[in-house]
Amino acid sequence: MKTNKTVLITAGPTREALDPVRYISNHSSGKMGYAIAQEFLRRDYKVILVSGPVQVTIDAHPFLTLIKTESAIDMLNACEQYFSTTDICIFAAAVADYRPAEPASQKIKKKSDTLIIELVKNPDIASCFGKVKTTQQLSIGFALETNDEMEHAKQKMHSKNLDLVVLNSMNDKQATFGFDTNKISILDRSGEVFLFPLKSKKEVAGDIADATEALLPFGV
Ligand code: CTP
Repeated sequence: MKTNKTVLITAGPTREALDPVRYISNHSSGKMGYAIAQEFLRRDYKVILVSGPVQVTIDAHPFLTLIKTESAIDMLNACEQYFSTTDICIFAAAVADYRPAEPASQKIKKKSDTLIIELVKNPDIASCFGKVKTTQQLSIGFALETNDEMEHAKQKMHSKNLDLVVLNSMNDKQATFGFDTNKISILDRSGEVFLFPLKSKKEVAGDIADATEALLPFGV
């Protein structure tokens, strides 16, 4: 084993229950988060992969702990168990920002012509870690933006206390949900922006791991 470092990665979407048979979710495939997990295993890290419900799979590995979760609250609870023992957190999950305030205990029946469902804000997992992390710990977040990309990415870096932000542009058709390719930029805290061409998610995972390792306080 080359490193004794641990990386926690969130991946995939979350599902927020409306009733026992329905939920609110999004199109995240989890492919990027799983590719990052695979890359850090290749680099001999201990990997904690906290995943939402996805089709993508990862082979069992002696250094891999895979925790399957459903909702944002489940995902946060799973992450909190590992925050203090983790050197690096990479927040690749597309966490639902809101959840139904009171999921119905029985299937919602079709009655009125309109249905209004109250939503409440979910906890922000990256921000929770940002508040407790030490100077020895790193956190990397993603930003998926449709407009004013750099400005929003910088705001997220500061509000969530991230060390790097991986910016996904919605302007590139092959770099969005479900594709095996991605086109990213990486922003660091000094304001430097590294632009990368369209690559396979496997190669992108390598670029993210390289940028992360370059920031490790005491090297790998
Ligand atoms: N994130 C998180 N927990 C949440 C929401 C987001 O950990 N409840 C993380 C994501 O995994 C990502 C980063 O925060 O690394 C940015 O997520 P994004 O959805 O782009 O931003 P939001 O903070 O949700 O802001 P908005 O949806 O308004 O753009």
